[in-house]
This record gives sequence, C-alpha cells and structure tokens, in this order.
Amino acid sequence: MGKPDLSTTYLGLDLAGPVIASASPLTRKLPTMLQLEAAGAAAVVLPSLFEEDVRAQPERAEQRVELARVAKEQLKIPVIASLNATRPGTWQEYAGRLVDAGADALELNLYTITANLGLSSAQQEMEHLAAIEAVRIAVDVPIAVKLSSYYSAISSFAAQAVDAGADGLVLFNRFYAADIDLKTQRLVSALDLSTPADQRVALRWVGILRSQLPPSVSLACTSGVHSADEVIKAVLVGADVACTTSAVMQRGARAVTEMLEGTSAWLQQQGLDSISEARGRMSLGPNGSPAVYERAQYLEVIKGEW
Ligand SMILES: Cc1cc2nc3c(=O)[nH]c(=O)nc-3n(C[C@H](O)[C@H](O)[C@H](O)COP(=O)(O)O)c2cc1C
Repeated sequence: MGKPDLSTTYLGLDLAGPVIASASPLTRKLPTMLQLEAAGAAAVVLPSLFEEDVRAQPERAEQRVELARVAKEQLKIPVIASLNATRPGTWQEYAGRLVDAGADALELNLYTITANLGLSSAQQEMEHLAAIEAVRIAVDVPIAVKLSSYYSAISSFAAQAVDAGADGLVLFNRFYAADIDLKTQRLVSALDLSTPADQRVALRWVGILRSQLPPSVSLACTSGVHSADEVIKAVLVGADVACTTSAVMQRGARAVTEMLEGTSAWLQQQGLDSISEARGRMSLGPNGSPAVYERAQYLEVIKGEW
C-alpha cells in the first residue's frame, strides 16, 4: 500500500493536504509563511485587516494589501486574505484590493462582542449577513466566513451565511478575554494559546452542519488543532481542512509536518487509501453517531459518577 492521498478541496481550491495555517503573527511575515509552506501547510490565511484599521490607520490597510501581493508572488500554496468587519462600510473596497493583489480567496472574520443594550441578536445577525453580502458583491473569489460559537441558533445562521454568499464556514474563532492584574487593578490582555480540548465545540458543529449544508459548502475546523489526532477528528466529522495557529506558535512549523505524518500513518493503519475515505464518517449523517451531538450526551456527562 502506497502513501495515502491527503489532498483535499477547500473553497474550490485544490489543496495538497488538509492542514491550513490560520491567521496569526506567523502569517504576517514572508519567512515564516515560507517555513509553513515547506512544512506542508496547504494554504495560509493572512492576519485580518480590521475595519477599524481601514478608518484609523489607512497605512496598515495598505500594508495588508502589500503582504497579499508578496505572499502570492513568493508562495506556491494558495493565499487567503482575511478581513474583520461586522457591518457594511468603507472596508469593502479593501476586499477587492486584496483580491487584485493576488489573494486566491477571502476569509471574513465576524469577530465581535455584542454588548450593546439596544442591539438584539437578530439585528446583530442581520449586520453580519449584510457584511457577507457586501464582500460577495465586491469580489468573485471564494469567501469563507469565520464564525464565533456564540450565535444562539448556529445551524440557522450558518445556512443564512451561505445564502448571503459564503462558500465555506470556518468553525470557530477563539475569543480572547482580558484578565485583571490584582496588583495594579488594571485590565491586562491575556493570550492563552489553545489546547486540544478546545476543539470539541467545533467538532460538534462541523459534524452537525456537514449533514445540514450542501456538500458544496466547505467546512474548516479550527481551534485546538495541535496534532494528527485533531486533524483526523476534524476530517471524521466532515471538515475539508483543519486550521492551526497555537501549535505552530508553540512548536514551530514542524508541528504541521507532524500532523501530516501522523494523519498518513493513521490512514494506513485503517487501511484507507485517501483522506476522503475517512471524511464525514462521524458526521451527523444517517450513518453517523448522533448521540455524540445531542443533549443526551450532556445529560450523560453531568449525571456520570465522579
Ligand atoms: C496572536 C494571534 C493572532 C491572531 N490573529 C488573527 C487574525 O488576525 N484573524 C483571525 O481571524 N484570527 C486570528 N487569530 C486566531 C487564529 O487564527 C485561530 O483561529 C485561533 O488561534 C484558534 O486556533 P488554534 O487553536 O490553532 O490557535 C489569532 C490568534 C493568535 C494567537
């Protein structure tokens, strides 16, 4: 038996493997992006251009466009540019400029804290959908939408995001909350990198959405992908790719190589020739394992013996 075929398709892009380097300081510089490519990352997502930056620091926005140009020129793997905006606005112009600079696809990162007393979840979601529509109108490359797990009705919002123009969904962004320094009694920003346990919520929702959304909608599983185990779990619930940041921040680009080698070894142990044979085996489909996704499992856990 030869080496298993790890190739996959994500957002209509043919990728050599299932691991993508998600947006982080490592994708902000060409040398680290080249290391990630050499280690086997199948695509890179550039750090997000924030709508606030477009307004307050236009030079920052120009730097992102330049980064997209350089990355596209120097890398062989697809380059996905990222925008963080939660309502239509002047930032839309940059969607087109990032694509003109060479981005193969766009990721729209809907990271927002909704703490406005006058803004209901329905209104907030309408703004998010309008932001997706605005990008859809601005560009003709594929669009992935990176969601948080805080929507009250994730399946419904996911379906509406697809209707608004998303070609794929990235589940889920991690939220960073400030800590308190007890000496100074000031807020301090805390960057806690993830652990594999952080993957579970995404696993659940990729598994559910894979059987609810059309197969043409790409799904990326992100948060907590540290080893081949998490890549394989992502694929089993139906993800087209697994994205990683914390692992490469901790262990360097070789973390990606280890994930790919471990995935290959597992496929071989299972007697599978390709990753596509494993994809979706554990999604909430007719042949899946529904109990993993349902309320019953919650009850089982909290009523268990401790
Ligand atoms: C320092 C740092 C910067 C990040 N910057 C971005 C960003 O610009 N845009 C974005 O969508 N996600 C950003 N992320 C989130 C990551 O892309 C990723 O979704 C998150 O870290 C969860 O994946 P992980 O568990 O593999 O770390 C950042 C994460 C870190 C740690």
